[in-house]
Amino acid sequence: MQKFRKIGVLTSGGDAPGMNAAIRAVTLAGETSGVDVVAVYEGYQGLMEGKVVDFSTGSVNGIIRRGGTTLYSARSPEFMLESGMQKAIETCRKFEIDGIVTIGGDGTFRGATDLTRRGIPCIGIPGTIDNDVTATDATIGYDTALNTTIGMIDCLRDTCESHARCNVVEVMGRHAGYIALESAIATGAEAVIISEIAHDEEAIIKRIADLRAAGKRSFIIVVSEGMGAYGEELTVKIENATGVESRFARFAHVVRGGVPTVADRVMASQMGAKAVELLLEGKSNMVVCKRNGRIVSEDIAYALTVDRMFKGKLKEGDLDPFTEDQIESMKALCEIRKQEIRDLYDLVEKTAR
Ligand code: F6P
Repeated sequence: MQKFRKIGVLTSGGDAPGMNAAIRAVTLAGETSGVDVVAVYEGYQGLMEGKVVDFSTGSVNGIIRRGGTTLYSARSPEFMLESGMQKAIETCRKFEIDGIVTIGGDGTFRGATDLTRRGIPCIGIPGTIDNDVTATDATIGYDTALNTTIGMIDCLRDTCESHARCNVVEVMGRHAGYIALESAIATGAEAVIISEIAHDEEAIIKRIADLRAAGKRSFIIVVSEGMGAYGEELTVKIENATGVESRFARFAHVVRGGVPTVADRVMASQMGAKAVELLLEGKSNMVVCKRNGRIVSEDIAYALTVDRMFKGKLKEGDLDPFTEDQIESMKALCEIRKQEIRDLYDLVEKTAR
């Protein structure tokens, strides 16, 4: 087994509240285990450019309560190229980095796999507000983004109630409807619209008209980002069809910032410590996951493939490296995720009035 003397930690892709708690946990758990820790600033771009700094207890003092990522983040097209990869490996050799903990979403994990294949062992930690990493029940940042989102929807509800209006609100989540679904439930929204499930526009408009006729003053319709420009169109349709004055709001990146919640801080700390443990056990190319309340690990290749399976993006040959049992377990996991989404959607529909 390789003897680890120095490990690196980096954040990549979209930032997420709680990433700092993971950075802190990696640094402190690393120190406790007797390895040196270095921080790589600006993700894989920084790794290519050698932005490496020694980290110790003092470096992470007080960061657990801060939003964003104190290591900064970047999306790096050059890292996708072999030339970029070689620069990153060069940095690892120069700074004698024996392994890296990479915090981010699926793009981050692809980078981690590429590095592992070229001799730099990596462990991934899922950090994205979208909660769209199929292999884990939760990603770092999701809970905070959700809480920020519901706070803002509650504010919209106040003003809608005062003015007897409808507000259509687009919430973040690229292709994933989790933020839309759970924020709709938590704010008592009158409808939710996500790209994963076909909705009945006429029924939603009729619901608003009927509720207004019954005396209801305010309406909140949550639309996920994956619906493109649909939220703005729907706002006009609702006003024209029902006569209820309607407004559109897009929360966008504002929900990616802010003070991380307890749930995100705790899970990020657990995942950070677990990632160090895995590296020191000689494991690599794994992603730390939360499943059924436990912190576990999954092979990155498995995690990326089940993700593509769930998103309907499997390419020819993607399943070839896996056994029948693994493929069956991927299918089962996709079913669980589909059912989760369906159940949340049905709950909104059942309780929307
Ligand atoms: O993946 C996190 C996320 O915030 C998505 O919700 C959103 O679609 C995307 O990132 C925005 O990316 P960017 O920060 O590059 O605009």
